[in-house]
Amino acid sequence: MNETQLDRYLSSLPLSSIRYYDTIGSTNDEALAWASQGAPDLSLIIADEQTKGRGRMERTWFTPPSSALAMSLILRPTNIERAHPARTTGLLALSLAESLLKLGLVPQIKWPNDVLLTNRKVAGILVESTWTGSELDAIVLGMGVNVLNASVPPADQVSFLATSIETELGRIIERAQLLRDIVIRVLDWRPNLGTDSFLESWEGCLAFRGQQVQVERGCGNPVIGELDGLEQDGSLRLRDEHNKSVIVQFGEVHLRPVA
Ligand code: BTN
Repeated sequence: MNETQLDRYLSSLPLSSIRYYDTIGSTNDEALAWASQGAPDLSLIIADEQTKGRGRMERTWFTPPSSALAMSLILRPTNIERAHPARTTGLLALSLAESLLKLGLVPQIKWPNDVLLTNRKVAGILVESTWTGSELDAIVLGMGVNVLNASVPPADQVSFLATSIETELGRIIERAQLLRDIVIRVLDWRPNLGTDSFLESWEGCLAFRGQQVQVERGCGNPVIGELDGLEQDGSLRLRDEHNKSVIVQFGEVHLRPVA
């Protein structure tokens, strides 16, 4: 991937500004800094390599050169996004899932922010924001996708088995084209973020639906139950052994199927 290729795939899209880096610390760090300096809505950062890629819960995110998609998109929140902040994670997850589906793959979203192929993680999403006092200024939608095999971290460095699009598809795809597909879907879904149709589409891609799962939260006992679906605010709904709904909020959570 280089600037010329990116330009070919992205120039017809209504993005405000695009910054491409051969190598960078973290596209999310750069996006947060750019957002604080006034980056307009729909500014995009892409890097071929990240040296300090970040995942959730202070984890590092592996982005070796020439093999992954590492991007961060800056949104200046609309009223819909202010009303449904957690849905923005779903916006990116669903947009990637639909792009993978178009390639003939069968993606699933491991709530809240992983995308799986054949039960292995192919992408992770990190949504962050900037604030002025209590006012939400910008949302940064960051995503890393393992496109080529070389971007899959070694097995001893991951907490959930990982895979790549190359492995699952048996061929290499153009990263810039995948990015274009994802951005097109983000732009399409964005005005519909508050609708039931968005929630249903997101819910329709959930991994482990109808199965027993365990959700660990930062503190307290893990919750075990059957994965039922999503609440209006994007929280996860389980059914416990007494058929009672248990709601798990967005946050520092780990979801796993119960073996
Ligand atoms: C996770 O699975 O924990 C989330 C991983 C998010 C990684 C992406 S790569 C692009 C963007 N820049 C970062 O530093 N992190 C996100």
